[in-house]
Amino acid sequence: MLVNFKEMLSQAKENHYAVPHFNINNLEWTKYILEVCQEMNIPVILGVSEGALKYMGGPHTVTGMVNGLIEDKQITIPVCLHIDHGQSFDTCKKAIDAGFSSVMIDASKHELEENIRITKEVVDYAHERGVTVEAEVGHIGGTEDNVSSSIYNARLEECVELYEKTGIDAIAPALGSVHGFYKGEPNLDFDTMKKINDALPIPLVLHGGSGIPDDKIQKAIESGISKINVNTELQYSFSTAVRKFLQEDEKAYDPRKVIGSGEQAMKETIKKKIELFQTK
Ligand code: 13P
Repeated sequence: MLVNFKEMLSQAKENHYAVPHFNINNLEWTKYILEVCQEMNIPVILGVSEGALKYMGGPHTVTGMVNGLIEDKQITIPVCLHIDHGQSFDTCKKAIDAGFSSVMIDASKHELEENIRITKEVVDYAHERGVTVEAEVGHIGGTEDNVSSSIYNARLEECVELYEKTGIDAIAPALGSVHGFYKGEPNLDFDTMKKINDALPIPLVLHGGSGIPDDKIQKAIESGISKINVNTELQYSFSTAVRKFLQEDEKAYDPRKVIGSGEQAMKETIKKKIELFQTK
């Protein structure tokens, strides 16, 4: 059974580690992530972007697939199925109605007042159904699903206002991280991160978790981050392995072998991230 992120993130916040949010893009990825997390006995958040939702067929396809894997693979760890960067109330509502246990409403492109209005509408709908809500303040840089944004850092007062006026369950303050690969060293504002963490009782989320050096990930966790999102590094390790396989075996055509050639590399990346996020 799917769970929302409340319990897993409050445990993480209290005990100073981070729960991984891994984006899923297809059946195989979902299976690999669940298998590794089960083996390592840690809770996981499966993030589904709007683009991935559409790619996989829609919210019912995704909930059917994830619930089926939990059942068939006898997954007993807590699994949260979460919309990543939901752009509208409508996307979040459809996902909740289809059985998602959590959503992110990302109305951060709007002015704060409008962000608050849209977020509150989602919170009201979600909380009545036991679903958790993450929201964003500021702009995370880079590109995800062909949506690009330049960095605009969140301010403490905006985060407090968004929390107080909406009752969200987790907050993603943009503090210098980017989606996709970094150009140079990431410049994260740990000071503001810590201040937001001290001011709010809810967990903090770090987007753009790929490509951040290990010591900065640890510093982010020390500064209050309880959930870290990773997509690009999984995409990269998976695709690199598949590319190598196809170059080495030009006659390969069975899709199970082609896609499956990315399994080991991707699983290794998942393991490394989990180990890093658990270190204190
Ligand atoms: P990366 O592109 O750094 O993996 O970030 C993913 C993410 O933040 C999804 O919300």
